[in-house]
Parts: sequence; structure tokens; C-alpha cells
Amino acid sequence: MVGMKYRKLGATDLEISDIGYGAWGIGGKQWLGGEDLASLAALRRAFELGLNFIDTALAYGDGHSEQLCGEAIRTAPDPIYLATKIPPKNRIWPAAPQTPIGQVFPYDYIIGSTEESLRNLKLDRIDLQQFHVWTDAWVATEEWRRAIEDLKKSGKVRYFGISITEHEPDTALEAIGTGLIDAVQVIYNVFDQTPEQNLFPLCLERNIGVLDRVPLDEGGLTGTITEQTTFEPGEFRDFYFRGGRKKQIVEKVAALEHDLAGVEGTLPEIALRFCLSHPAVSTVIPGMRRLSTVESSCSVSDKGPLPADVLATLKRHAWYRNFYQ
Ligand SMILES: NC(=O)c1ccc[n+]([C@@H]2O[C@H](COP(=O)([O-])OP(=O)(O)OC[C@H]3O[C@@H](n4cnc5c(N)ncnc54)[C@H](OP(=O)(O)O)[C@@H]3O)[C@@H](O)[C@H]2O)c1
Repeated sequence: MVGMKYRKLGATDLEISDIGYGAWGIGGKQWLGGEDLASLAALRRAFELGLNFIDTALAYGDGHSEQLCGEAIRTAPDPIYLATKIPPKNRIWPAAPQTPIGQVFPYDYIIGSTEESLRNLKLDRIDLQQFHVWTDAWVATEEWRRAIEDLKKSGKVRYFGISITEHEPDTALEAIGTGLIDAVQVIYNVFDQTPEQNLFPLCLERNIGVLDRVPLDEGGLTGTITEQTTFEPGEFRDFYFRGGRKKQIVEKVAALEHDLAGVEGTLPEIALRFCLSHPAVSTVIPGMRRLSTVESSCSVSDKGPLPADVLATLKRHAWYRNFYQ
């Protein structure tokens, strides 16, 4: 497809578009304002533009996101690769190192959750199954390893990954060392650049795929949040951008836009190119419920890495904080 670029997902045989589709928002419950027909149209437009990789999860709208993704994939003219996730059995995000893995990912639960996802998707197989939480405190236990091996052997899952705790990119380094993990999913964006320190060098050395999630800081890096922006009470972003946080975002974005004057593209487009400029990143997976955001994000793919001087400018805008707490 003209314009879209593809990268190998680590050592797997999946050639995936470097712009992937983040399917949390279309699940509905935690992000409000989307609508199923519009979401399906957005997915199909993304496919037309060459996007061939979706990241969803059983927890996104309790299976609703998976159902929409499955419908779009089954009717797509070309193969689309899909990643989904097994929610923690205790429904606690993020994982706590002191919680035994038996309360979070017991063997039968890992298998059963995968089968539930396959029913939602109405597909025979999941290209990349991921643990939706993780702590390296669990590495030495046995059941998760056996479950991965059995799911791969049965053909229900091709590859396995870990979605790493928000802003703690070093909490899966030992799991990567086991050789059982094909890909990791991590927050990497202009504000949180910490995966560059330890995780990305290890992924490059071990040829582990990297899904770059939350590339636009849940909307903070779109440049559209103002102090007057409101979200539906109870939705995720009402929590994420609560209190004085919108003011902080406005100030950080104003400083960014000041320093980026003259650089081609919108702030979100530059922010996505920042992510794709790191060689460890296999794909970046922005949430995109609208045609306009699909078209803008997909247009970034063939622009290539940012010039060194722009990357140097963006390095100075790293901002370590945790709005998930
Ligand atoms: N624990 C986990 O494993 C975990 C946690 C969070 C996220 N994720 C994954 O990562 C994905 C991405 O994160 P996210 O969706 O939460 O946040 P995000 O990608 O940082 O931000 C999504 C927001 O950016 C907007 N947007 C996207 N492309 C744009 C563009 N080119 N120009 C302007 N605005 C643009 C979207 O608009 P519209 O939607 O309105 O079109 C949406 O409001 C999720 O969908 C999910 O697949 C995983």
C-alpha cells in the first residue's frame, strides 16, 4: 500500500504496519463519545490506508472492542493481524508484586480467557495474546509458562506478549530474558521517554517486538485539551485529566508548540513520528475513533524518522509523572 511502511514484529514472522490501531476507545465503556458505526468506518478507512495491525483487549468494553475488531477483520479484503489481552483475574490494575500469580493468571483462567476472546472475535486464532498486567515477581512460577506453550501448541495463539505497567518499563525485563515473550507493549511518547534507558536496548538485543502504546498521552499530546475541556463524569479521561492537570498539560503543550515552530505537521503527527524514530519500536498504536484522526495518523508512516535537531528538541520535553494514579 502506497505510503504505509511495515516493520517486523521482533523475531515473529508478522510484518505489521508501523501505524497500528489502538482499540481501547472503541470499546465504549471507559471512553465515551464513540459510536459503533463510526468506529467500524474508522477501522475500515485505516485498512484502506494500509494499516494491518490492531491492539485490543477483552477488558475494553467487556468484549465489545473485540467484537467490533473481529467484525472489521472478518470483512477486510486483506489479512489484518490482531493483538488482544488477558485481563487480570482479580481485575486489579496494575499488578502488585506481592500478589501471588495464582490470584491473577492461573493456568485454567489464561486458557479460558483466550477462548472467550476467540468467541468475541469470531476468529480461529489470535496473532498476539498478551498479559494485561505483569510483574517480574512472577517470573519463576511455572503455570504461565505452561499456558503460553499450550496455547501456542494448540494453534489458538501464535505469539505471546506482555503489556507493561504504566511508566514502569523495567518491570518485565526478566520475563523477556525467559525467551517465552515475543513482544512487549509499553508507554513511550514525548513525555515518557524512560523505555529508552533499559527496555529498548534489551528489546533490540533480543529481537523482541515493541508495541508503543498511548503515544498521544491519552489526548494530552493532541493539543486539544484546554482548561475548559470536560469529559463525562466516570469516564477514564475525567480521572486522568482531573484537578489542575489540564492546566499543566496546557502549559507543557504551549512550550512544545513554541519549540516546534516551523516543524512540518501537527503536534500529534510530530508526536507519532517521535515514537517511530526509535528503532526498537515495531508499531505505534494510537486510539483513533474518527476518520480524520485515522487519516492524520496514517499519513505519518511514510514521513520517516524526525531529523536529529527536532529529536534533540523533543528530548528536552520529557515529563515524568503518573496521571494513572
Ligand atoms: N494497559 C494497557 O495495555 C493499555 C493502556 C492504555 C492504552 N492501551 C492501548 O494503547 C492504545 C492507545 O492509547 P489510547 O487510545 O488510550 O490513547 P492515545 O493513543 O494516546 O490517544 C488517543 C486520542 O488521540 C486522538 N488522536 C489519535 N490520532 C490523532 C491524530 N492524528 N490527530 C489528533 N488526535 C489524534 C484520538 O482521537 P479520536 O479517538 O477521538 O479519534 C484520541 O482522543 C489504546 O487504544 C490501547 O490499544 C493499552
